[in-house]
Amino acid sequence: MKLLNFGSCNIDYVYLLDHIVAPGETEATDSMHIYSGGKGLNQSIAAARAGAKVYHAGCIGEDGEFLAALLAEDGVDLSYLGRVKEKNGHAIIQVTGTGENSIFLYPGSNAAVTKADIDATLSHFEKGDILLLQNEISGVPYLIERAYEKGMQVMLNPSPINDVIFQIDFHKLAYLILNEIEAEMITGASDPYGALEKLRQDYPALSVILTLGKRGSIYQDAKEQIHQPSFVVEAKDTTAAGDTFTGYFVAELVRGAKVKDALSLASCASAIAVSRNGAAPSIPMREEVLAMRPLLKERPGSIAAEMAVKTVESTVDAALATVTLKDIAAALGYSPVYTGALIKRLTGKSYKEYVLERRLCRAATLLRTTDMPVGEVIAAVGYENESYFRKRFVEKYGRKPLEYRKAK
Ligand code: RIB
Repeated sequence: MKLLNFGSCNIDYVYLLDHIVAPGETEATDSMHIYSGGKGLNQSIAAARAGAKVYHAGCIGEDGEFLAALLAEDGVDLSYLGRVKEKNGHAIIQVTGTGENSIFLYPGSNAAVTKADIDATLSHFEKGDILLLQNEISGVPYLIERAYEKGMQVMLNPSPINDVIFQIDFHKLAYLILNEIEAEMITGASDPYGALEKLRQDYPALSVILTLGKRGSIYQDAKEQIHQPSFVVEAKDTTAAGDTFTGYFVAELVRGAKVKDALSLASCASAIAVSRNGAAPSIPMREEVLAMRPLLKERPGSIAAEMAVKTVESTVDAALATVTLKDIAAALGYSPVYTGALIKRLTGKSYKEYVLERRLCRAATLLRTTDMPVGEVIAAVGYENESYFRKRFVEKYGRKPLEYRKAK
């Protein structure tokens, strides 16, 4: 299986500011750097640094020859990279001290990709090969049509979103890798799970990778959903974080890795890129990612943790009086031992304390909102030892259950 990335190469002009310049505002900075960039180039370099053999196609301009040299240094195959007599594409990037960015794009040479270039390049690839695409070159819908006809697997990163994206037939994609904002623009759903559900209904055969920044990422195909937490790092520059993730993810797929492992490595590589300045220069090598992964901590509050907490909560609340650790473990798909440790890590409480806490809260609600006798309330929420339950109720609410009801 060959990997072709047909994508942009940009010259990134990066300015460090204390805030992103607002409309009508003028700011001066003495921090300016010129880096190699472009979503295409960044993703090719990420995939190459992740160990994949990558063919990069596209067009570079008269001032962009150094970009080709950089791709070649990373071992990217440039047999299908064209040259045009015009300015190379470039990006004006504002970065703040906290790693936030804002990008203005001039497409230049990236807009010079023709149908003839596409036909000529695709003639070297066949069924089963992967075509990776972003939305910074001309001819993206045509590329998708032709690649689909050949039976190639198309992975689209629909970034940046513009009218072109809405001309694409998503049924012809094998993978869609996008962030929360892009997902909302495509589906109209503002929450990640709503967007995933809409994509699942509309394109059941599509594998979707939704990246959520610090909250991690979610993979979804027809059979499963996998949650990947992000890793904790000190953010310097988030430029190319998504590109690093995409390049690593696709490279791991080509390597034959399981999706779960590909997500974890991609997430770690992306975290390392965020801790450094620049786009392509910030992308780590695979050995470094493998060495760093055991040392980096998963970020609490990630989507994976949020989901696990929701599952624990709903399983406990659905059968408050009778729930067991085994029930929660079954709902999460983990062993009871791991589940007990996970509950402790996510909630700060042991499994028993956590359930007791939920029972006390439900008992208080029932006392406030119903006329059920106290004994029945306590039986309804469940307890291991009634007098201990009553004691803990007093500790938590400062009154015995009956007095608590009277006081409300
Ligand atoms: O994704 C980051 C990239 O977006 C930058 O390198 C810039 O060139 C823009 O294309």
